[in-house]
Amino acid sequence: MTTKPITEQKVLIIGAGPSGTAVLRAFKSAQDKGAEIPQIRCFEKQGDIGGQWLYNWRTGADENGQAVHSAMYRYLWSNGPKECLEFADYTFTEHFGKPIPSFPPREVLFDYIKGRIVKSGIESWVDTHTVVHSCTYDKEREMFTVTYRHLKNEGTIAKHEQHVEEFDYVFCCTGHFHMPNMPFYPGFEKFEGRILHAHNFKDAVEFKDSRILIVGASYSAEDISSQCYKYGCKDITLTYRTAPMSFTWPEEYSTRPQIQSVTGKVVTFVDGSTKEIDAIILCTGYKHHYPYFSDELHIQSTNRLWVDGLSWQNIFSSVTPRLMYIGAQDQWLTFNMFDAQAWYARDVVLGSITIPGKEEQDKQFNEWREKELKNKTDSDAIRYQTEYVAQLVEATDYPSFDYEKVISEFLEWEHAKQENIMTFRDKSHTSVMDGTKAPAHHTTWLAALDDSCECYLATLEEKPEEKSEETLEEKPEEKSEETVEEKPEETVEEKPEETLEETLEELSNFINSRETDGGVK
Ligand SMILES: Cc1cc2nc3c(=O)[nH]c(=O)nc-3n(C[C@H](O)[C@H](O)[C@H](O)COP(=O)(O)OP(=O)(O)OC[C@H]3O[C@@H](n4cnc5c(N)ncnc54)[C@H](O)[C@@H]3O)c2cc1C
Ligand SMILES: NC(=O)c1ccc[n+]([C@@H]2O[C@H](COP(=O)([O-])OP(=O)(O)OC[C@H]3O[C@@H](n4cnc5c(N)ncnc54)[C@H](OP(=O)(O)O)[C@@H]3O)[C@@H](O)[C@H]2O)c1
Repeated sequence: MTTKPITEQKVLIIGAGPSGTAVLRAFKSAQDKGAEIPQIRCFEKQGDIGGQWLYNWRTGADENGQAVHSAMYRYLWSNGPKECLEFADYTFTEHFGKPIPSFPPREVLFDYIKGRIVKSGIESWVDTHTVVHSCTYDKEREMFTVTYRHLKNEGTIAKHEQHVEEFDYVFCCTGHFHMPNMPFYPGFEKFEGRILHAHNFKDAVEFKDSRILIVGASYSAEDISSQCYKYGCKDITLTYRTAPMSFTWPEEYSTRPQIQSVTGKVVTFVDGSTKEIDAIILCTGYKHHYPYFSDELHIQSTNRLWVDGLSWQNIFSSVTPRLMYIGAQDQWLTFNMFDAQAWYARDVVLGSITIPGKEEQDKQFNEWREKELKNKTDSDAIRYQTEYVAQLVEATDYPSFDYEKVISEFLEWEHAKQENIMTFRDKSHTSVMDGTKAPAHHTTWLAALDDSCECYLATLEEKPEEKSEETLEEKPEEKSEETVEEKPEETVEEKPEETLEETLEELSNFINSRETDGGVK
């Protein structure tokens, strides 16, 4: 390792989404406590921080000719309770000045992510409109050479300035849900409807009254189909490769096995059945893609909880511990997992944590991989990732929190989804960080068509008129608005006679009984 004084070392963070901003915040927190820190740069190709949470109406290329990064769409609400991703050093209540409901829309979470960085005064550490084009590593000199460009959109032609700079450490924080995995089925090239990947899905209203086919059985499939249903789609066919989703869907839904081929608008499935379809939405996940890295630095992994190519703590590249990947794992915990990884990696850079030798690293990798392979259910996977986060947090000064409570909130959420996939977002969870009980939202998720910050944060009395009443009126019986008073609250706290352990066990058993074999999503 280098003998340069820490203040002369240079750290590059590539990407300013939740992972990159976690690293920024980690270094700032150390500095605030009096530590000397290296020179920090963060290059972000979009015009602001926020990563996936920064909505872009474009598809394909952005205004600078770069691939559009975010896969988020209009009306996207958090699919997990905010209580399971809350920053331990910056709570929702601190940010919004009052308790807010448990499943915020994208704009609200963007505001929260940005709020922590603005409050820390480190927005200026990020160079926006700056894209990293290449990154190579010189093992002898232990230095990275990075080529990057400032993007300036001047009139109709993007003007790019190229720079080359050396860094001692690189944090890869560019996410892994932006390069679509797009399977091909015979006949796709002549399909007489629309085929798109979830990454290019922007607005469910487009599919009102259409007959859609959803390929895939994970979160995008679950949420995009639910969005389409909410905004008026009348015929939704789900297909799966390994196992179907285990929810009870409304009657507008049906499930078929894999596609075999497509002719005109007619899809034939592997069981020989056929169906006419207007649009096929490929919710088939993403590939790890880091186009700026040389081959050796680029991890090769599927979307999993313990990724290939990263050794110690599944953060440090097996080529050099000077390269750290934040958020490369499939994600149950998100923002607070990125924080835990960032704080840990920061301490390695600052020298307060030492990475052990290769034998110990391999042993750790193999143990976690073996445990990962034994995960059979969502509950197993939640426990696995929470345990991972816990041991990272406990090794640093990141504020410790109640890990069992995180698991219990997750299991409550899973339970609610199994009970009713269209109403789980109406539940209230309790903050693990400050114990705040979330208020019920003024409108049920199915009836809430306005996803703006203003509407979401309003109290029942302040609530603005819904913007698109028409769609709402078309689905009267299940989608009428419920007031706070109408919604009895159900949380772990309201079961005082049971211990937390009993509740967890009960929830685990229920969820496991609903999951199909190998049903971890
Ligand atoms: C559709 C969708 C919905 C999701 N919903 C939820 C949810 O409800 N709850 C939840 O907790 N998680 C959700 N996630 C998971 C989400 O990925 C994480 O919450 C989080 O955004 C990951 O943060 P990240 O910083 O690792 O990556 P990202 O958010 O992807 O940020 C990466 C950043 O790197 C930048 N970048 C990329 N390439 C370059 C380059 N060459 N040079 C410079 N900058 C670059 C990008 O512009 C981007 O800002 C969702 C993901 C998707 C795809
Ligand atoms: N806030 C929200 O509501 C929201 C909405 C969308 C996405 N997200 C987030 O986005 C991230 C990515 O989720 P994701 O669902 O896009 O990806 P994912 O979890 O990786 O799932 C990919 C799915 O595609 C299927 N698949 C892959 N290749 C296939 C093929 N050739 N044929 C048929 N099926 C195939 C997989 O099937 P197998 O099961 O057979 O492997 C799996 O079901 C997650 O973090 C999720 O939480 C959140």
